[in-house]
Amino acid sequence: SAPARDRLRIAIQKSGRLADPARSLLAACGLSWRQSRDKLFCFGESLPVDLLLVRDDDIPGLIADGVCDLGVVGLNELDEQAKARRQQGLPDAYQPLRGLGFGQCRLMIAVPEDWDWQGVAQLSGKRIATSYPAILAAWLRDKGVDAQVVELSGSVEIAPKLGTADLICDLVSSGATLAANQLKPVETLLDSEAVLAGPVHELDDARAGLMAMLLRRLDGLSRVQD
Ligand code: PRP
Ligand code: ZN
Ligand code: MG
Repeated sequence: SAPARDRLRIAIQKSGRLADPARSLLAACGLSWRQSRDKLFCFGESLPVDLLLVRDDDIPGLIADGVCDLGVVGLNELDEQAKARRQQGLPDAYQPLRGLGFGQCRLMIAVPEDWDWQGVAQLSGKRIATSYPAILAAWLRDKGVDAQVVELSGSVEIAPKLGTADLICDLVSSGATLAANQLKPVETLLDSEAVLAGPVHELDDARAGLMAMLLRRLDGLSRVQD
């Protein structure tokens, strides 16, 4: 088994929509950090809880590999990577522990504005661009629709204009990106928000107590907010 560790390590997004709210929430739980010069590793001062600043897409894998104990990540990303692992026959390696009440968005099918939308049967035989191939494939299977999934890591909304796909499946928050690209949302695959993700098995060293304390403090905060 892995060597015992006495410091908890939490991965958060380095920059982007979840970065600031994640940091503020952890600070509200009483954590504070001495910023290192490269700013990618923040050593915990008030408690033995350190931060790792990374790309959000890397957070599930960091938990799976035991590099980090917890992570603040969109449910969309966590769910995508969990489904991808299952499709590869790998065991579950992380789970959402708490919804955090920020970073709300939806994973949606969006089609060109001039389409006359009549339902999912219309997707049959179409090419759908997405950064969420596992969630999309599972949804299409569930709906009994045979369509082609075109995986893109970013700027998915431009694909219909480029002709590399007929429509897209991407995150929608304000809807501004869809509107700017003459697309309209028609179906929701997932309601997402930022979650605190953790391992599927309980830790068996000093980190277990730290994690329990952090969860208690988080729960205390959400009670105050409600
Ligand atoms: C997300 C998503 C959409 C956009 C939607 O991208 O992929 O492109 O936000 O937001 P809106 O509805 O408010 O316009 P984001 O900019 O978070 O970054 P990424 O796609 O590069 O991860
Ligand atoms: Zn991302
Ligand atoms: Mg985007």
